[in-house]
Amino acid sequence: MSHSPDSSQSTLSHISIIRPDDWHLHVRDGEALKSVVPFTAKQCGRAIIMPNLTPPVTTTEQAGIYRQAVLAAAGENSTFQPLMTLYLTDSTPAEEIKTAVASGIISAVKLYPAGATTNSDAGVTDIRQCYPTLEMMQKLGLPLLVHGEVTHHEIDIFDREKQFIDQRLISLAKDFPELKIVFEHITTADAADFVRESSAYIAATITAHHLLMNRNDMLVGGIKPHHYCLPVLKRETHRQALVKAAISGNNKFFMGTDSAPHSRHNKETACGCAGMFTAFAAIELYTEAFDEADALDKLEQFSSLNGPLFYGLEVNSDKITLQREKWTVPDAYQFGDDVLIPLRAGQTINWKLVS
Ligand code: NCD
Ligand code: ZN
Ligand code: ZN
Repeated sequence: MSHSPDSSQSTLSHISIIRPDDWHLHVRDGEALKSVVPFTAKQCGRAIIMPNLTPPVTTTEQAGIYRQAVLAAAGENSTFQPLMTLYLTDSTPAEEIKTAVASGIISAVKLYPAGATTNSDAGVTDIRQCYPTLEMMQKLGLPLLVHGEVTHHEIDIFDREKQFIDQRLISLAKDFPELKIVFEHITTADAADFVRESSAYIAATITAHHLLMNRNDMLVGGIKPHHYCLPVLKRETHRQALVKAAISGNNKFFMGTDSAPHSRHNKETACGCAGMFTAFAAIELYTEAFDEADALDKLEQFSSLNGPLFYGLEVNSDKITLQREKWTVPDAYQFGDDVLIPLRAGQTINWKLVS
């Protein structure tokens, strides 16, 4: 952080921080991939690439091919490193974990409860089926990333994260006390409390949109499909609890945008897809959230230090600089042969990445 100790943070005109990483990112495949990867490659040193393609990325071999496509999309001169993940299914063999670790390109395995979110149909129906595989991950130190929502029809969508903690996560953490688990895109005070009170093996990512918005932003004054994501935005008290966790300086919480691009027509329809596209201004949006909380001095730890610490990696070696400057977000971005609507389309963001 470059500011004099007596300057009020809310009036800072510039901040410089170690280059951030995105510990939860969707970049899709094909032409769409080429459209979105450069946004993240420009801002972040590394990103955890989610495996929920159709078909899902379930093997190290598939992840290797996908990794090459992401690298190609980042461009020849880019130093951006995609960190690949495997999509856990009921039948992922423990052997595949050995292969994954030996390859050196797989950073984690992703658990989607079947039916919980976009492209999760091939996800896990019964976590006990995966126990030998989780055993191997614990042994070899490969983290498990979790979409933490139960899927039972009778559970209210606003309660699904809390129910996941009570019904699944507590016993999982007990059965695998040394398995590294990232509770992804947490959205509730309950999740923040759970992570805070758990062992050092359990951490969480928090998105910029869950720090900046609550469910009113999705539902008041007309339904906003571009503010619909999973886990769904929650009430204001939860947003405040997430901000508190993010700015706390606790190293269990780190940046994971969950930038999840979908074409405009897949969002603006009678049954729209879940996901917000934020990668084009990821660090600017987080900076705005930290600035609003008068905690710019805590941004670097959250965006650039805590993630590498948890994953056992070096922090990035260069810095980025942001300037306090309002700019207007484009109405749309190209998305393969389609378009997508970014978060804040046509509206302003208060910070701009300048170098
Ligand atoms: C994600 C996507 O579109 O792939 N959507 C979302 O709303 N977050 C999936 C996910 O991260 O759950
Ligand atoms: Zn998810
Ligand atoms: Zn996601």
